[in-house]
Amino acid sequence: PRPIILDCDPGHDDAIAMIMALANPQLDVLAVTTSAGNQTPDKTLRNALRILTLLGRTDIPVAGGAANPLKRELIIADNVHGESGLDGPELPEPAFAAVELTAWELMAQQIQASEHPVTLVPTGPLTNIATFLLAYPHLKPRIERIVLMGGAAGVGNWTPAAEFNIFVDPEAADIVFRSGIPLTMCGLDVTHNAQIMDEDVARMRAIDNPVAQCVADLLEFFVIYHRDPKWGFDGAPLHDPCTIAWLLKPELFTGQDCYVAIETQSEMTVGMTVVDRYHLTGKPANTHVLFDLQRERFVDLLAESLEAW
Ligand code: BDR
Ligand code: CA
Repeated sequence: PRPIILDCDPGHDDAIAMIMALANPQLDVLAVTTSAGNQTPDKTLRNALRILTLLGRTDIPVAGGAANPLKRELIIADNVHGESGLDGPELPEPAFAAVELTAWELMAQQIQASEHPVTLVPTGPLTNIATFLLAYPHLKPRIERIVLMGGAAGVGNWTPAAEFNIFVDPEAADIVFRSGIPLTMCGLDVTHNAQIMDEDVARMRAIDNPVAQCVADLLEFFVIYHRDPKWGFDGAPLHDPCTIAWLLKPELFTGQDCYVAIETQSEMTVGMTVVDRYHLTGKPANTHVLFDLQRERFVDLLAESLEAW
């Protein structure tokens, strides 16, 4: 199995990404670390512990991360994810505690101990990953790839130019995109095509186990925000699970190797992932940017992952 570390801010779609990763034995989840983003850091940490408790995976080490972005004040997405960060399902209280390490210390510990290079899978702001890279530069060669949800080659979802995860901590994203580590970017271009429709939610609801029921509850809450006609969606984009789906079945996706840079200065476009799709800068590609996926097969993969519990 491929060793991975999930760095997430659960978050409905983060929770579903965790569930998919842990359902598939091709992935070996070494640790879960939490970032501040969808909710405050205390809440995202607690949510990760609650989801792992539901899954009976209290053996997985969990660590909380930075309380704030590198240089800015924290912005949260409680308009999308609610007061708890995971509004909707009734989740168990955490049956275990986080380890007494920071997110980046736990990453370093696991990466050092792993026989094979590790893939990092961030699905929140990149603060913890950037902090790890600054603190442990000698461990870079031990990272196989970073597969992240964030950014867009096209339009943003938090500002006209920026996607939420990158907008929250653009300085951290800048460090990650300049790191030289192979990157896969699941930005809004692909995730807006990974929509879950009402009939898909009904399909998950029909799977008779508590994990599938929890996912159906999560989806029913998550679709509410996305029903606003301004988006023009038929369903709700399941952003974060695209990272796990790409790791499991890259053949479902289309993408292109591009040079990507992060805007950190401009007031109007801060947090933009500037994607050089036509190789106009002549700079070497640093990112495999995903653009599209086979939506129905992605939904099949989610359903199969839920049947596993
Ligand atoms: C990203 O922002 C968060 O609200 C989601 O969990 C996802 O990671 C989408 O822009
Ligand atoms: Ca997220």
